[in-house]
Amino acid sequence: MKIFLDTADLDEIRFAASLGVIDGVTTNPSLIRRAVEKRGGSISMEDYIKEIVKVVPGPVSLEVISVEAEAMIEEAKKLYRLFSPYGEVAIKIPICPSMDGESNVYDGLRAIRELSALGIPVNVTLVMTPEQALLAAKAGAAYVSPFAGRIDDYIRDKMGMKRGEDYGKADYYDFELVRKIAEKRVEKVLESKPASTSKSLYLDEEVKSVASEGQDNGVYSGVDLIARILRIFRNYGYRTEVIAASMRNARQVREVAELGVHIATVPFYVLKEMLVHYKTIEGVKAFAADVVPSYRKIFEENP
Ligand code: G3P
Repeated sequence: MKIFLDTADLDEIRFAASLGVIDGVTTNPSLIRRAVEKRGGSISMEDYIKEIVKVVPGPVSLEVISVEAEAMIEEAKKLYRLFSPYGEVAIKIPICPSMDGESNVYDGLRAIRELSALGIPVNVTLVMTPEQALLAAKAGAAYVSPFAGRIDDYIRDKMGMKRGEDYGKADYYDFELVRKIAEKRVEKVLESKPASTSKSLYLDEEVKSVASEGQDNGVYSGVDLIARILRIFRNYGYRTEVIAASMRNARQVREVAELGVHIATVPFYVLKEMLVHYKTIEGVKAFAADVVPSYRKIFEENP
């Protein structure tokens, strides 16, 4: 599995690249904003992005800012022309760049199709459903980026949980536990209506509401979203690579790796979380304490 760093912070990118474990970088306007704010707003954006592209040993995704197809295509060409001479660049296009669900609904597909036909690699972003991913692949996308963490947020929010109160942004979402709870709750509701027919149970509002808990239209978590996209792509042999995005913790990365996802793009803190374990630290301390002088001497006496 390839690992991309999900950041626009050049310090983080330089450090992670020096470790030799990152294969690319993904940015978006929010991440660029964070990087600019960290530097007190005083950077030449063009030079800054050129530096990122030079440092990264793989594709750097840069996002357009418009929502109309023609404007996105122009911006994408501009970004590609400016930065691809310095390294690998992919252009992020939102799958459905609509602000109201009515206007600009198809503009993403138009831009993906045209840019891909020109040979510009497109990373389709803000993918929240398997069907969006399918359409992106059909339009010729090089990558799709399903936002796992945001789907976990959405499902938890729909269950009445509040981020910041009931769960933290980086907390693992235990969707298997939620499925078990939902199954039990459905059983209980069914038991309370013993005389009903299958038809009346299927149409029963209480049954429907309990049965639909813990999911977004049949998707049970961000990891489940990625599993479904991978299954669809494998069914039909699409070459579009899946970037597991909006990764919030190491366990999520493990789960998408187990699914065989092509790429996971992770924030810097997740990279650290992937390394640190209580028992590893305990072991390092114990080995350090057990070093006998004669063993230490080998290192001291052999420069
Ligand atoms: O890769 C997309 C990412 O930057 C969004 O992450 O944590 O804001 O949902 P997040």
